[in-house]
Amino acid sequence: MIRLGVNIDHVATVRNARGGIHPDPVAAALLAARHGADGITAHLREDRRHIRDEDMKRLRQELSVPLNFEMAATDEMVTMACALRPHACCLVPERREEVTTEGGLDVLGQQADLREKVARLKEAGIRVSLFVDPEPAQIEASARIGGQVVELHTGAYAHDPDEKELARLHAAARATEVFGLELHAGHGLTYTNVGRVAGLPGLRELNIGHFLIGEAIFLGLPVAISRMKQEIATGALFKAFGQ
Ligand code: PXP
Repeated sequence: MIRLGVNIDHVATVRNARGGIHPDPVAAALLAARHGADGITAHLREDRRHIRDEDMKRLRQELSVPLNFEMAATDEMVTMACALRPHACCLVPERREEVTTEGGLDVLGQQADLREKVARLKEAGIRVSLFVDPEPAQIEASARIGGQVVELHTGAYAHDPDEKELARLHAAARATEVFGLELHAGHGLTYTNVGRVAGLPGLRELNIGHFLIGEAIFLGLPVAISRMKQEIATGALFKAFGQ
């Protein structure tokens, strides 16, 4: 079974638009967990544009499913994560001016710094994931610095779902297996494009946020999650039958 991690950042985006406490991203996370989310992801950005420190603390206290703390590989965030001790941390690149996480982390280009941060997180008992573009060299570097998981950035495929991008994801998935890492994927996934991503060999987890929270406006979060899980299961099944 492929796990579905629900990213609740954009519940906080809506809350912050009016500066109050509604809608509460922690309440959304608890609802998602009651209705099939296998884990919850929240990205505490440097500028705190959506999730805030207090949200992370409450998520850690109140959730019974695994919490994936998405963060930039900075000293501030590593210290915070080591104190919070979530189930996992996903290290992502971060630029203040970007709308969302626009590319994967350049693990190859900053191995020494990342190796030290990955070691600190692992010492605190946190499973460490690296969010990378589907490039075998980045996956090899992730293994070399002690990463346990890679999350493949599916943004390019999601934006333009062609065979070439899918082939890139497949090659990256095979490299992940060769280097002995657990495979996750995410970014830009919808009911329409998730199926073929779910067919990636060895895939264990998908992390999906913006589309699910958007669909929840129309259908409610439980229905949106249920439909997404069906699309994932169908995509994985098709692969099992070689289609
Ligand atoms: N995985 C990672 C590492 C991300 O940065 C994001 C976006 O915050 C997602 C998954 C989810 O992407 P989306 O919100 O487009 O579903």
